[in-house]
Amino acid sequence: MPNRLFRPDFYDRLFNWYNMHHRDLPWRDTKDPYIIWVSEIILQQTRVAQGLDYFKRFVSRFPDIRALAEAQEDEVLRYWQGLGYYSRARNLHETARVICKQHEGIFPSEHGDIRKLKGIGDYTAAAIASFAWDQPYAVLDGNVHRVLSRLFSIPEPIDSAKGKRIFKELAQEILDTRQPGLYNQAIMELGALQCVPANPACPDCPLSGFCSAYLYNKVQDFPVKQKKAKTVDRYLNYFQILSNHHTWIRKRTGKDIWNGLYEFPLIETNEAAGIETLLTSEELGLWLGDGTVGKAIEKSIRLVIPEIKHVLSHQIIHASFYQIFVEEPGHLSDYFLMIKEEELGNYAFSRLTEKFLERANP
Ligand code: ADE
Repeated sequence: MPNRLFRPDFYDRLFNWYNMHHRDLPWRDTKDPYIIWVSEIILQQTRVAQGLDYFKRFVSRFPDIRALAEAQEDEVLRYWQGLGYYSRARNLHETARVICKQHEGIFPSEHGDIRKLKGIGDYTAAAIASFAWDQPYAVLDGNVHRVLSRLFSIPEPIDSAKGKRIFKELAQEILDTRQPGLYNQAIMELGALQCVPANPACPDCPLSGFCSAYLYNKVQDFPVKQKKAKTVDRYLNYFQILSNHHTWIRKRTGKDIWNGLYEFPLIETNEAAGIETLLTSEELGLWLGDGTVGKAIEKSIRLVIPEIKHVLSHQIIHASFYQIFVEEPGHLSDYFLMIKEEELGNYAFSRLTEKFLERANP
């Protein structure tokens, strides 16, 4: 049943608008939970325009759970390369393996079981359960928060504990339980296309007659957010060391950014460091042998990218990339994986390093 908050024409208006204006997107033509899952994970931190090609390439290479489960993690990450937030890809892959082992490769069909899977939170579980099986779970993403906060002029910050509770209850209450899948798509699409963050064209909105913020001319005041989390600055100095058409890389591990991706030898400093400081660093001495460092390699250093700023969600990366050509690779292979230069394309790097590679090899 539609909820008690709105007259039935709220839903008629929303669905009519959706029928006329929705984007034709490939994951909307399917009830396959695997395909829906992949699309929702890609779209979690990525805009549709950017995610679309990644989605097509991903499902064409990994068309079902088994294909994904049987792939090597490195290959999965290569298909994700450039999308960022790589733990999404690692969780997707791990969960595909778990589904194959524990559920015989069949995606669980109950919301509660879906929610238990690694990498699947409230939003994704509701999206999969409602799109694939029309189960009555309301989705709550950034778009839906914005729509609801304006419809009801909700003063609670969407990112506060109390706000989260309020929005969750409200979203569930407004859900049209007769057709949860369609309703969820429609309310999200309204947020994406019509109820946009800046300067929405409210007179064109099918729900303007229900919208409290519009009525009081306060649309720009919603949604309310708490203060932004602080960002930290990091200084990363990368060295692509080349010797006889070989180069050295390593895989990032641990609970830091870009976990699982490859990178060139890196010296992280507390502040911006010039090449003079870097040349006397302990790291370069260890890698190349003390004799090499200092004057001996100075002439063979090329600064490819001075300082580029690369903004992540809570970190501002200040990165410099140097290329060094050496006759003897010293002890590099003790610390790094030696590969042929032409094999670089076989490894997944961060978007930042990709930018360097594009600039270094135009
Ligand atoms: N963003 C997140 N999920 C989406 C979906 N299913 N359709 C369009 N945009 C989305």
